[in-house]
Amino acid sequence: MKEKILNSLDTYHLIKRIIDSCTYSREVSQNSEYKNIVMDNQPDSKKDIKNMKAIMLTKLGGPDVLKVHDVPKPTIKNPNDVLVKIKFSGINFAEILARRGLYKWVPARKGFILGMEGAGIVEKVGTEVANFNVGDPVIVVRGFGCHAEYIVLEEKYVLPAIPNYTLEQNAAFTGSFMTAYLALVKFARVESGETILVQAAAGALGTATVKLAKALGLKVAGTASNTEKITMLNKMGINLAINYSKENFKESIMEWTDNKGVNVVLESVGGEVFRDSLQCLSAMGRLIFVGLSSIRFSKFNPLTWWSTYKLIPKISLLDMLGKSYGIQAFHAGRLLDNNYTEIRKSFDDLVNLVQQHEISPTISRIFQLNEIVEAHRMIESRNNIGKILLKIGRSS
Ligand SMILES: NC(=O)c1ccc[n+]([C@@H]2O[C@H](COP(=O)([O-])OP(=O)(O)OC[C@H]3O[C@@H](n4cnc5c(N)ncnc54)[C@H](OP(=O)(O)O)[C@@H]3O)[C@@H](O)[C@H]2O)c1
Repeated sequence: MKEKILNSLDTYHLIKRIIDSCTYSREVSQNSEYKNIVMDNQPDSKKDIKNMKAIMLTKLGGPDVLKVHDVPKPTIKNPNDVLVKIKFSGINFAEILARRGLYKWVPARKGFILGMEGAGIVEKVGTEVANFNVGDPVIVVRGFGCHAEYIVLEEKYVLPAIPNYTLEQNAAFTGSFMTAYLALVKFARVESGETILVQAAAGALGTATVKLAKALGLKVAGTASNTEKITMLNKMGINLAINYSKENFKESIMEWTDNKGVNVVLESVGGEVFRDSLQCLSAMGRLIFVGLSSIRFSKFNPLTWWSTYKLIPKISLLDMLGKSYGIQAFHAGRLLDNNYTEIRKSFDDLVNLVQQHEISPTISRIFQLNEIVEAHRMIESRNNIGKILLKIGRSS
């Protein structure tokens, strides 16, 4: 009886935590960092206002809530600000979650510009900007603001464009490749010759992880839901492509590894996929958890509370002890905010690695800014292979 009460208290607290973390909480909306974002870099007076096109999230819901808005073009206000004319912007799964109100690394209120990454040309720099000049091709990374013709951001969120890449490739690079790099090198600390299972291997993060893992000398297995994705993974040189609609990935992995299991799993789906992935780990294996693509949560629909509860991975330290494996999780955006120097160094190391191995992002399709609804629909219907981009502005 005592155990039952404790269990239901646990469930109550977990669901409360989900609701708190999945909705725009009052506490965060009063956080000053977020409060002034849209206003921060606005022109001084009405006569200075020039408009630009941008995708703003003004209400939560399905893809149809997304529209192109005319908003004031931002201006430089601080000495270390950079004004960038964005040419292409990558769409991340996180923006699908943000649109549904399920993502926290965005401003804690509606009415902000979507877009976490992009590439473009520096148009103006503040007086203390040290590393960029007008005309430089650059990558921009931020929790928001990149699905727009212009962005003003602190120099630390601007990265030099990778020289051998097109602007499209630069725009498609950072979110997925930095996450893949951090997962493999900084968290899993992979060694050449080890085996890895990449879940959702044909997605933006998946293709980046497969390419980097191959470059690092790993033997790579990956899962995907259809034949087209499997064909593409085979073309990329993956060692084992598993169509999980037709075969049980756990059995395929055990057969592939002579029942030893893999050294590393990259997991971004949650629920049953997470549970089965754990069973694919060898002793001293490491599972790196980075996302919950399967989440379907609505605070107004109690049925989704239960399904969300079941989806969120539960971890047993006793299982970890008994089977001798490790589980780690991280969010690349928060690391960028809180551990900037280390992450910036990792970016440089990653760029060296991709240049040395001549790796570049897989781009699935490029949509025009006014096709944002179709672009989100394509990601939601799981038809993308690699990254989806938005082309911003009339010419590139
Ligand atoms: N922690 C971090 O820092 C970080 C950074 C980047 C991305 N992520 C996370 O990594 C995940 C993948 O991101 P991405 O940009 O690569 O997305 P993506 O390109 O849209 O790939 C997601 C893929 O996941 C697979 N999937 C399996 N079950 C799914 C379900 N129930 N609903 C939707 N998709 C499902 C689908 O491929 P199949 O149909 O082939 O199964 C889908 O195409 C997301 O959860 C994202 O939030 C985390």
